[in-house]
Amino acid sequence: MTRIAHLSDLHFGAHEPGLIDPLCEAVHAAQPDLVVISGDLAQRGTRGQFAKARALLDALPGPRFCVPGNHDLPHWNPILRFVDGYGRFRRATQGPTEPVWRDDATALAGINTAHRLHWQRGEIDPGQIDQLRHGFDEAGDRLRIAVMHHPLEHAALNIDPLMVGAGRLLAALPGMGARIVLSGHVHVSYVAPFTDTPEVLFVQNGTSLSTRRRGEDNLFLTLDTGRDRVRITRHVADGTRYVPHHPEHWSLAPGGWQRDTASGAGVTPRTRSARA
Ligand SMILES: [Fe+2]
Ligand SMILES: [Fe+2]
Repeated sequence: MTRIAHLSDLHFGAHEPGLIDPLCEAVHAAQPDLVVISGDLAQRGTRGQFAKARALLDALPGPRFCVPGNHDLPHWNPILRFVDGYGRFRRATQGPTEPVWRDDATALAGINTAHRLHWQRGEIDPGQIDQLRHGFDEAGDRLRIAVMHHPLEHAALNIDPLMVGAGRLLAALPGMGARIVLSGHVHVSYVAPFTDTPEVLFVQNGTSLSTRRRGEDNLFLTLDTGRDRVRITRHVADGTRYVPHHPEHWSLAPGGWQRDTASGAGVTPRTRSARA
């Protein structure tokens, strides 16, 4: 079993300062094997905001696995955005924008969807899909998890349109053996199989620290993964602490991921009309 703590959308610069210590304490208490942050560490990609993000990263348990979000590109400096758009992110996270990680049971590969031009919407190109595929080259029979900022499907809350290349990437995931996608961006959590690729589980996180909540309290997730199953727990901010809620249990059957419905509360309803 591997335990992953999945944080997302910290938005330092537009964050809840009173939740930094409780978040750090709750992640330590969860004793994860890996901490994943699926983008938007900063609000405007400034040095000061990344310094705050770096301070949190230093306080969290390791190892850490981070991919950029659209807010991590330098907002106020278009020249830097094109010349070295991800430099501040790399220095703050002390890692690449498309990391890989694995232990005995689980393999993760990240893809950078925060495009310099289509930064809000997000974009990936065929070369990045190949790179993600190669990220699983050494995965063997481990459970394969892809990590990205922008979601590949509308769920819980729509931010139209989907990123450029979302359909192409989603169609490629089963062929590279990916079984779970961790993403963020819309600040609302959601867990369900993808509609057209039910053998891939869509795990969309909410925001762990941002003041920009969309009808859901700040939270992070823990995932306890086996080769064909995962237990997902929401840890939800309750004033001064993050409280673990009843977990969801999912297993991978021949027709795709199925939820053990006796294991907890219902899935967030899918909506197709709401806009951010
Ligand atoms: Fe965000
Ligand atoms: Fe975002």
